Amino acid sequence: MWSKNEPHLQSLLLIVVPFLLVSTASAANPVSDILDKGRNITDGETLVSAGGSFTLGFFPPGVLGKRYLGIWFSVDEDAICWVANRDHPLTDARGALVISDTGSLLLIDSSGQVVWSSNTTGTASTTVQLLESGNLVSRDGNASGAITWQSFDHPSNTLLPGMKIGKNLWTGEEWYLTSWRSADDPATGNFRYITDTEGVPQNVMLDGGKRIYRTGPWNGLWFSGVTEMGTYSDMFIYRLTSSPSEITYGYVAKAGTPFSRLVLTDDGLFRRLVWDTSSRAWKIFFQGPRDICDQYGRCGAFGLCNASAPSTSFCSCVRGFSPASPMQWKMRDTSNGCRRNVTLDCGNGISTTDGFVVMQGVKLPDTHNASVDASITLEECRTRCLANCSCLAYAPLDLKGGGTGTGCIIWREDLMDLRLVDGGQSLYLRLAKTELGEPQPPKSFPTGIVIGVTVPLVIIILALVAFWFSPWRRRWSRERILVDNPPRVLDNASRVVDNVAPDSHPPNLALLTTSFPAVGLPAVVQATGNFSEANIIGKGGFSVIYKGELDGYGTVAVKRLKQDSLSEKVKGDYAREIVLMSRFTHANLVKLLCYCQEKAECILVYEFMRNRSLNLYIFGEDSSLRSLLNWAQRVKIIRGIAVGLEWLHGEGVIHRDLKPGNILLNDTLEPKIADFGTAKPLIEDPTNQTLVQTAGYVAPEYAGEGTLTYKCDAYSFGVVLLEILGGKRKKDEPTFLPQVWESWKQCEIGELLDPQVGEPEAEAFSVLARCIHIGLLCVQHLPEQRPAMPEVVAMLTNTGVQLPMPSKPTANIGAGLQAQPISDDTPGPSRTR
Ligand SMILES: *[C@@H]1O[C@H](CO)[C@@H](O)[C@H](O)[C@H]1NC(C)=O
Ligand SMILES: *[C@@H]1O[C@H](CO)[C@@H](O)[C@H](O)[C@H]1NC(C)=O
Ligand SMILES: *[C@@H]1O[C@H](CO)[C@@H](O)[C@H](O)[C@H]1NC(C)=O
Ligand SMILES: *[C@@H]1O[C@H](CO)[C@@H](O)[C@H](O)[C@H]1NC(C)=O
Ligand SMILES: *[C@@H]1O[C@H](CO)[C@@H](O)[C@H](O)[C@H]1NC(C)=O
Ligand SMILES: *[C@@H]1O[C@H](CO)[C@@H](O)[C@H](O)[C@H]1NC(C)=O
Ligand SMILES: *[C@@H]1O[C@H](CO)[C@@H](O)[C@H](O)[C@H]1NC(C)=O
Repeated sequence: MWSKNEPHLQSLLLIVVPFLLVSTASAANPVSDILDKGRNITDGETLVSAGGSFTLGFFPPGVLGKRYLGIWFSVDEDAICWVANRDHPLTDARGALVISDTGSLLLIDSSGQVVWSSNTTGTASTTVQLLESGNLVSRDGNASGAITWQSFDHPSNTLLPGMKIGKNLWTGEEWYLTSWRSADDPATGNFRYITDTEGVPQNVMLDGGKRIYRTGPWNGLWFSGVTEMGTYSDMFIYRLTSSPSEITYGYVAKAGTPFSRLVLTDDGLFRRLVWDTSSRAWKIFFQGPRDICDQYGRCGAFGLCNASAPSTSFCSCVRGFSPASPMQWKMRDTSNGCRRNVTLDCGNGISTTDGFVVMQGVKLPDTHNASVDASITLEECRTRCLANCSCLAYAPLDLKGGGTGTGCIIWREDLMDLRLVDGGQSLYLRLAKTELGEPQPPKSFPTGIVIGVTVPLVIIILALVAFWFSPWRRRWSRERILVDNPPRVLDNASRVVDNVAPDSHPPNLALLTTSFPAVGLPAVVQATGNFSEANIIGKGGFSVIYKGELDGYGTVAVKRLKQDSLSEKVKGDYAREIVLMSRFTHANLVKLLCYCQEKAECILVYEFMRNRSLNLYIFGEDSSLRSLLNWAQRVKIIRGIAVGLEWLHGEGVIHRDLKPGNILLNDTLEPKIADFGTAKPLIEDPTNQTLVQTAGYVAPEYAGEGTLTYKCDAYSFGVVLLEILGGKRKKDEPTFLPQVWESWKQCEIGELLDPQVGEPEAEAFSVLARCIHIGLLCVQHLPEQRPAMPEVVAMLTNTGVQLPMPSKPTANIGAGLQAQPISDDTPGPSRTR
């Protein structure tokens, strides 16, 4: 807050004498939490809440020249929790907040125009106060002091303790969070976080009008899919209010709890942040969507998502159901979901033979269309469900009392967005009799039939014994061994995929991208000036990249596949890139915005990276570019790449072609990994027929035998790391790695650092030496001697992690023989054989 005040004091000193009176007056009474009629707050002045927790004032969020009025945490002025004029920025620092004659709060610009108004009608004697809760309230000036307007009723992207989201059932008024458009632009963005008040209340994140994430319904303790809420219930009291007047969700902090906030970020993440006073940083207590299974309806109707299953087979059908479109399901397009094997027995509503299986540990399906009855028991709920053929499943409404819970939720429509969660609850799924009798996996034995506990237990034990000796198990374990423990693989972290039958079909775009935005060819033609030469910013082996201005997206990079190279293989890469990238949103991966497939054109549209690719900086002939990245920035870039790769590996994807040309830098020089045409999801498309590689960056076992594991990416990362620090292209010198090792061994670290960047400070020097050490571990000849990417990230971020001694890496041989790389300077699909 002081940094915001200082310019103000300076500028005041420049202002002519009459104003000095004013400034001394305000200096005597520097901060107040009250604004009343006749006074105003100009740019540079602030209101500070009585206990000092919150500050109201003007801020620039980074967009040059634009200024906003907002409220932030005094401990962290970047933690802005409310913005008044988010869609109407001031263009200079001469705005002022005043109270109008009718008691409205007005934000006026230098020409006296009203930029934003609270639109309240009160009296001229209104006072405005910034409360210690972060709420800005305006009160009627007369004795009643009634609140006529409050900022808590107009949330931006942040939910503070005491605020709420949901619906006022009398007025129809809704409260919800809306994201910023980007990290430095508070304008209303695409994401909304609402409390869905239909059925059982649940929180839902929307992108435009589309549901993209759901917390699961409120079960009296927490949201069914966010069982983490139980782990911090010592700090917060969750408040779900369901009354004739409103259905809302909010929370309050218990006494002694540090500052906290719930934020909907500009990239569609919902976070619970708590201020850690000792490290003076926000700690993330929860973030959703957490994983692929949190993507709304990922496995379609009656699909069940298991996030701990291998990343390409996380979808399965619930018991008694099988894929509705088996062919598409096989291609991992699970959007059509599953259908029932055996139709239900409607009977006459009394003598039905149907029963239930209990699915344990789940986030309950979407309750938007479910019906609810809080007054009956679970047993009555079951009876009610059996009595009506349209009932497909039921679950208890309220778990507060413990046991199996009370109340009743009944689903009559497709079960959507069902997933497994740690500590999840039970869902009772209705099935036909024949589907109930089979031997049951331990997690889902029928409870509908009350024969006592022992009978099912005996059945399970018998089934397990039978399974142990059955040919099924042998086949199952053989497959597991092939996948998990192939002879060539030397540790658990890497898994070989080349033993699995190769899948020669490129993914079918039409099947795989149904939910991803496409853009029309005319729009792309217009954006790129009809693919004008002047707009070309890069060329790859199979593609040309243009800069363009696309309606609704701003400046974009347009990657157009060359017509003459549109082989099936290239089209496959194209489809794969869309499929992979549309799934991925991560700060260190380039974001795919949309695609265009029309008239034989295959076009991908990415966010535009003004600073282009890393190779231009680290190898730049232009020494000004080379010295532009200082040591601290280089280390930050190395960490960013490691984090991006770690994330990819967590998603079960091997990049296979990491190199400086595939790493782009954003405006703040954060690295973003690009070019996913070559990336392979593990198992999904385990072809080793095509070797994608660029000499110098490819791991020896991949170049030689084509053995592809996560450790191949670790190797490429090691080479890139050493190049970032050394400013040398490794492929220019086959003996680069052994030489680095020799110098490192002799402690001649200085020789391994690019002289153009300048002498590092002593402290930076030890960080760089550690980086080189880690780089050498990554380029070890034997994959099992390389750390996995999560270990690399730990080593890079935590100096407490011990580093083993690297052996001497081998000279780079095989690569050139196996592949003919295209230039590694241009981002674009790489050469495959
Ligand atoms: C703000 O207050 C100061 C001093 O009271 C006054 O000189 C100035 O004109 C006011 N500005 C606006 C925009 O009302
Ligand atoms: C106030 O009213 C104007 C005109 O009806 C409207 O454009 C504006 O969005 C309203 N402001 C707020 C904060 O609701
Ligand atoms: C004082 O407050 C009451 C509400 O309690 C309101 O009806 C009345 O109009 C206010 N008085 C004036 C003078 O505005
Ligand atoms: C989910 O996947 C994991 C890993 O494959 C497996 O161990 C577990 O049994 C699965 N859970 C269910 C309920 O199928
Ligand atoms: C019925 O469903 C099960 C899954 O519970 C599936 O394995 C089986 O193949 C299905 N049977 C038929 C006939 O579709
Ligand atoms: C609720 O039901 C309506 C009408 O059947 C359907 O269009 C809608 O998609 C359903 N909503 C959800 C969230 O399932
Ligand atoms: C079953 O439920 C539906 C939907 O609530 C209702 O319309 C129908 O009348 C019910 N049928 C019976 C037999 O109760």
